[in-house]
Amino acid sequence: MIKVAVCGAYGKMGKEVCQAVENASDMELTAKIDIQGDAYRTIEEASKNCEIDVLVDFTQPKSIYENALYCLNNDIRIVIGTTGLKDEEIGQLKALSEMNSTGCLIAPNFSTGAVLMMMFAQMASKYFDNAEIIEMHHNQKKDAPSGTAIKTALMMSQTKSTFKKDNCPETETITGSRGGTSYSDIQIHSVRMPGFMASQEVIFGSSGQVFKIRHDSTDRKCYMDGVLLGVRHVYQKNDFTYGLEKILG
Ligand SMILES: NC(=O)c1ccc[n+]([C@@H]2O[C@H](COP(=O)([O-])OP(=O)(O)OC[C@H]3O[C@@H](n4cnc5c(N)ncnc54)[C@H](O)[C@@H]3O)[C@@H](O)[C@H]2O)c1
Repeated sequence: MIKVAVCGAYGKMGKEVCQAVENASDMELTAKIDIQGDAYRTIEEASKNCEIDVLVDFTQPKSIYENALYCLNNDIRIVIGTTGLKDEEIGQLKALSEMNSTGCLIAPNFSTGAVLMMMFAQMASKYFDNAEIIEMHHNQKKDAPSGTAIKTALMMSQTKSTFKKDNCPETETITGSRGGTSYSDIQIHSVRMPGFMASQEVIFGSSGQVFKIRHDSTDRKCYMDGVLLGVRHVYQKNDFTYGLEKILG
């Protein structure tokens, strides 16, 4: 049995993960960690009282780096669903995971459909010179743009180093109208409002055609197969992985 702790256990994602772990025949939920509710307050406190093979973190951008450092320095494998890590922080976690041979998976999106969207966007980037990303989330989301949008742009940039900005020169009459510029000059636009859970469109254009790839998450259960796959992966491999697409069969 893989002994799993969930950090952020009383959050929207954490509650689903606790239930999924409890339902998995090869896993045991040994600790709930959260700054609210009936839970251990810190990973340190939980690890002194419970056995933890793998910790799953769905907390918030401002705590994830410290949480991950604690785990990787204390022989606790970690599956990171929390978004908001900076590139340099991801690089430092990779180095620490490899140095200590402690498994670490960072996945900005655990749903298979969203991972396929990213892979298809990466493929399509070869054939289109213009692309923009629109991501739409519920209005309690703490970071913008989403980790999924950033990862999508990163994967697209691995196919094409620069997308065209041939509608320039342009004047932004209202600041921010054109979104934020990411990898390979891909513009990302973030929508936040009630009604959405997590959606994203990648839009490609060329003369006479528009090609859209869209994914909608309508229930947080869509992430759970990916999270459990991630737990099994870090438990067995003890390596560093960024992106669920690297471990999907
Ligand atoms: N990777 C994915 O597939 C995926 C999917 C959905 C959400 N997310 C990300 O997961 C994170 C959580 O999302 P959510 O919607 O569940 O948020 P949420 O606000 O509902 O839950 C966060 C939980 O973490 C707890 N928490 C905050 N700081 C903590 C700390 N330092 N230690 C312990 N607990 C702490 C909060 O009390 C809360 O219960 C966000 O970063 C979100 O972007 C990732």
